[in-house]
Amino acid sequence: MVDPQLTPQGKLRHLLTLDGLPAATLRQILDTAESFMDVGERDVKKVPLLRGKSIFNLFFEPSTRTRTTFEIAAKRMSADVVNLNIATSSQTKGETILDTVANLTAMHADMFIVRHGQSGAAHFIARHVAPHISVINAGDGRHAHPTQGLLDMFTIRRYKGAFQHLRVAIVGDVLHSRVARSQISALTTLGVPEVRVVAPKTLLPPGVEQLGVQIHYDMSEGIRDCDVIIMLRLQNERMKGARLPSAQEYFKQYGLTAAKLAHAKPDAIVMHPGPMNRGVEIDSEVADGPQSVILPQVTYGIAVRMAVMAMLAGGGGD
Ligand code: CP
Repeated sequence: MVDPQLTPQGKLRHLLTLDGLPAATLRQILDTAESFMDVGERDVKKVPLLRGKSIFNLFFEPSTRTRTTFEIAAKRMSADVVNLNIATSSQTKGETILDTVANLTAMHADMFIVRHGQSGAAHFIARHVAPHISVINAGDGRHAHPTQGLLDMFTIRRYKGAFQHLRVAIVGDVLHSRVARSQISALTTLGVPEVRVVAPKTLLPPGVEQLGVQIHYDMSEGIRDCDVIIMLRLQNERMKGARLPSAQEYFKQYGLTAAKLAHAKPDAIVMHPGPMNRGVEIDSEVADGPQSVILPQVTYGIAVRMAVMAMLAGGGGD
């Protein structure tokens, strides 16, 4: 089957999911991001790679990190960035998503960055845009969040080096998490030999073991001897019905505290895609502690998003 996000020559055309992307492409994105890391440390934080390009942020769901770092990344590459305010756009008057996209295309858009509550929204737009336009999925429903997955891989590589000897635990609401799906896809493609998911049964998707992960229901066992612990938020906005007794009970069983963290390797890193709910899935002592790399993840997101946009525009990573 043809992958809609790759050209016949195997170059990135859109970035919609990490599923099916070859390890070489993932490594190329991480290497390109590495080359952009120093731009953020210069006095003049700009390179001309996307000069003259118009990039539209279309966020139909709330976001702090993703929307802002895409904007910073695009501006660092000298693009013109438009943040469409969905709440005050003609979407509220019944305009369809494709009509909105067609109108923005008439304004000479070159790239759309799309977050939407419906799984498949970015794929849908990508199927309908003109050939010169690229679409980046900035999170669709519970399906995928590819740039978050990539910045997480970038973070792991920065702190741990090679992927081939790592034990990684993803803890929490895997069922509703687009981030977990993208992480599992990237970790397995990049050769991590042991990926664990740690959660109550009610927060694991049926058949999750078919993604190549080990299942743990006990938190201390699940993170034992791990190199990397990735905590996930309870995504209440996507939950239908009660899946947990209470937030307090959840924290007792699955919240990452310093006592539980002691079961992991002493040099384990703690990650979280954000937004965090302190006292629900993570204790402040850990979130702000020496093993936390949660804020570096955010910073690396800029370089990773620069890399993705540069490669889509044909201006980087060759
Ligand atoms: N990680 C993440 O997607 O955060 P935002 O919802 O703030 O973009």
